[in-house]
Amino acid sequence: MTTENDFKLIDNCNRHLNYLRISITDRCNLQCRYCVPQELIPKLSHTDILTYEEILRVVQAATRLGISKVRVTGGEPLVRKGVYDFLQQLVASEGLKDVSLTTNGVLLHDNLPKIQSAGISRINISLDTLDRQKFHDITGFDDFKQVWQGILKAHRMGFYPIKLNIVALRGVNDMELVEMARLSLRFPFHIRFIEYMPIGRAAFRPESLLLVPEIKDQIGVLGNLIAVQEDRHDGPAQRYRYPDAKGEVGFIPAISQHFCNKCNRLRLTASGQLRPCLLSDHQEDLKKVLRENGSDRDLADIFIRSVNHKPSDHNLVSQKPAHVCGQMRAIGG
Ligand code: 5AD
Repeated sequence: MTTENDFKLIDNCNRHLNYLRISITDRCNLQCRYCVPQELIPKLSHTDILTYEEILRVVQAATRLGISKVRVTGGEPLVRKGVYDFLQQLVASEGLKDVSLTTNGVLLHDNLPKIQSAGISRINISLDTLDRQKFHDITGFDDFKQVWQGILKAHRMGFYPIKLNIVALRGVNDMELVEMARLSLRFPFHIRFIEYMPIGRAAFRPESLLLVPEIKDQIGVLGNLIAVQEDRHDGPAQRYRYPDAKGEVGFIPAISQHFCNKCNRLRLTASGQLRPCLLSDHQEDLKKVLRENGSDRDLADIFIRSVNHKPSDHNLVSQKPAHVCGQMRAIGG
């Protein structure tokens, strides 16, 4: 007789899915222009979003199917009430080997001890500029200093690795990429340049894309980029290091180089939908199953169905720009 344990999440392209990104809220305390939608989209209500108990049940089902790695995202995850207790419970979930957090860093400084005692050491911080005024222009808030203080404190407290995510935006932060890369010389940070993806209907869209080959070219002025050997945490990032640098630089060539064939991810949205691909609107309704007292078997079936719908490829490059309706803030980047 087959049991759930016999199923692993392997899709039609033989990709082994072991990584679940969980958006715990669609709310955010910043309003980044390339992320917020043009028009007002109603925020999810309290009852629309999964409770922490529901998320933990999903995680339990997921780990039985071979998910071993989870990243908590948002919106901004640290704005959700009760998040630190949740993180602690999540880290303690049987079968999870790796729990990490993506945050904009605004609430980081004062809450680092709680994150650390929850058992999390891997954090990604979204930081698109090192300039206070530009930070304000991009995000709508004058919080650069607070974020930077949080990053430095995380470093002092021994969080590792600290990854700084920079979405490369022509005409916005293209003059600063070298400065950002330079941080990797002084600090053991992983500086990650992400190609902007046209997703949802953002208030701001750069006129032309700034792609990895051009970024590499620019930041090459600081020295030779030496490839770093891949490890199991890498995902789609291409990692490099300057000679004698404390940290690394990495690239996420979402557009210029398809990494769909290496994609090992599924996404749980704040409203309890399971998405097999960031760049496709296909979703399966886990919340319905949870709230109709579905069995563990029912939850597993939803996972398997989702995996069977994982597209082989995103079509951001090959076809006319895809219109992905889901908003980044609800899906989690
Ligand atoms: N393209 C690429 N990256 C994006 N992010 C948000 N919107 C986009 C986009 N359209 C990034 C955020 C964050 C990460 C989770 O995703 O800046 O660092």
